[in-house]
This record gives sequence, structure tokens and C-alpha cells, in this order.
Amino acid sequence: MQAALAEKLRGIDSVQLGEQPDPAPAAGQALIRVHAAGVGPWDIGFLSGGFPGIALPFVPGQEVAGIVEAAGEDADVQPGDRVYASLFPAGGGFAELALASADRLAPMPDRAGFEEAAGLVVGAGTAHEGLVDRGSLRAGETVLVTAAAGGVGSAAVQIAAAMGARPVGVASPANHEYLRALGASDVFDYHDPDWARQVLAVVPGGVDLLFDCVGGQTMDQAVGALHDGGRVISVIPPFGSLRLERAITGESFGAHVDRQRLEALSHLVDSGQLRTQLEAVLPLGQVREALARVAGGHTRGKIVLRIV
Ligand SMILES: NC(=O)c1ccc[n+]([C@@H]2O[C@H](COP(=O)([O-])OP(=O)(O)OC[C@H]3O[C@@H](n4cnc5c(N)ncnc54)[C@H](OP(=O)(O)O)[C@@H]3O)[C@@H](O)[C@H]2O)c1
Repeated sequence: MQAALAEKLRGIDSVQLGEQPDPAPAAGQALIRVHAAGVGPWDIGFLSGGFPGIALPFVPGQEVAGIVEAAGEDADVQPGDRVYASLFPAGGGFAELALASADRLAPMPDRAGFEEAAGLVVGAGTAHEGLVDRGSLRAGETVLVTAAAGGVGSAAVQIAAAMGARPVGVASPANHEYLRALGASDVFDYHDPDWARQVLAVVPGGVDLLFDCVGGQTMDQAVGALHDGGRVISVIPPFGSLRLERAITGESFGAHVDRQRLEALSHLVDSGQLRTQLEAVLPLGQVREALARVAGGHTRGKIVLRIV
């Protein structure tokens, strides 16, 4: 099979197209003919050696959509099923064939094509876990989303709106209309040093939940827009509890996207409440260009590779 692979982990330029033996599914695994694979900042992290213990050559790609080619024993799927899957952390998605654990895949939403489905897995999966399970977001609450225009943030704004909450976003001015169209009630420009105070002007008393996809100074500023006793959920390492003032509680977490999570996303997509926002779909041969665009840090929605 053809794959994008890295013989060493020295950044985006380590990736080249090459041939690999076709993988065979073990028990509990499905072999997927990959039609599309999402690209995200985590791929650059893997290629830069940010995740220890990676076997070489390494095929990046942690989220795919495609058609089941073969199933191992006890994998509850059939050849011909249209599925989307998380491959984290083994990767292997930037290839014609990929192995997925059967408990980390689900039937594709009826209302999504391969590109849209592939682009949902990690971003929307992370947003759903963060808002629903970890953040306990409730209808009527206000949630502030940083990096709201990115892959995780674009999904978070839509999921929060679907839950009956009020999402407010943080993004560059060029993305403000885009985020209002996704359901954000108000959007703020993080380049303005005063932006957190502006949030307090439109949310008197302060927001209930911060869903942070940036960390660092942006997260510190965003915490200032919470009310006393508010909550913070961040997706930026290091993972664990956050020590915060004013009785604000919080944690940073690494997402675990499993079958139940994907089924919940499918329900949102098929009920018209969640769509993947595709900035670009590129062929596998342009894998380095796709990675470089993601590394630029200003993706609107998702960049996806078309593989078949
Ligand atoms: N913990 C986990 O399980 C997990 C899972 C997925 C992702 N992540 C991490 O979460 C982060 C976001 O992922 P992603 O896929 O959404 O990335 P992404 O799509 O590459 O995010 C791009 C967005 O980031 C925005 N941005 C950049 N700097 C910003 C700042 N200082 N303040 C506000 N927005 C800023 C840009 O907004 P503008 O263009 O509007 O400036 C752009 O729209 C990454 O660090 C990723 O590694 C963690």
C-alpha cells in the first residue's frame, strides 16, 4: 500500500510517500480502506518526537474515515461498512489501509461524507468529552471557547449551542462572522489586550465554563472572564488538575475518543446540529503542504487528506 511515512522524527520534512506492506487485522481490529484522514496539530507533535516510544517508520494520521476491508475476530464490523475511527496513538491514517481498534470506530454519520467524517474524530470528539463529560455544561450556561475557529473550537461552539448553552468565542477578526454562523453569540479578538474585560461587558457576572484550546497567556486572560467558582476545561498539556484562584476548579485532559463518543457525534451530525467545517481537502501527495498549513496555527475548521 502507499503511505506517508517518516523514517525519523525530525518534523514535517521527515515525511515522504512510500510503500508499506498491507497490514492485517488482529483480533478486535478492523482493516479500513482509508478514503480520508484528518490532519491536526497532534500530527506535528508526533513527527517532532513529542510522543515517546514511537516505532519507525512512523505513519502519521490519527483520524480516518473509510470502508472496512477485513475484520479480525470479535471485531463487531463487516467488510463494506462505512466507518470513522480514532487511531490514537498508533497512527497509520495517512495510508491507503489502516488498522483500527473496533471499540474506537463507529458507523459514519448518514449526513457526512468521508472528508467530513474524518475531520470530526479528534476535534469534535475532544470538544464533546470536554463539554459534556468533563465540563458538565448545562443548558442556559455560558461557555467561553478559545481558539474557537480551529478544529476543536469549531466543534465546541456547535456542540455547546446544541446543548442549549451560550457559546462565546475567541478568534482573529477574520473568523468572527464564521463563528457567529456556527452559533457563537459573541466573538472577541485575542490580539486586543483588553478582550477578557470585553467578555465581562457582555456576560455580566462572568462566564460559567472556559473551554480552553490555547493555554498560556490566552488561557490566563480567559480565566479572568469567569465568575467566582467557575470551571475550566483545557485540552493543552500538561494534563491534570489546574490550580486556580477565586474557587475556580479545572483540569486539562487528553481525549479518549471511543465508539460511544463517535455515536454521540453521529447523532449530532444527523440531527443537523454539527458539521465539519472544511478549510481544505488535499490529496495524499500534498501531505507536507497539509501539515505545514496546520503548523501555521490558523486553520479554520479542518484540513483533510483525500486518500482514495
Ligand atoms: N488534549 C487533547 O486530547 C487534544 C485533542 C485535540 C487537540 N488538542 C490540542 O488543542 C489545540 C487546538 O487543536 P485544534 O485541532 O483546534 O488546532 P487548530 O485547528 O490548528 O487551531 C487553529 C486555531 O487556533 C487559533 N489560535 C491560534 N493562536 C490562538 C490564540 N493565542 N488565541 C486564540 N486562538 C488562537 C487560530 O485562530 P485565528 O486563526 O482566529 O487566529 C486557529 O483558528 C492544539 O494545541 C492541539 O494539539 C488537544
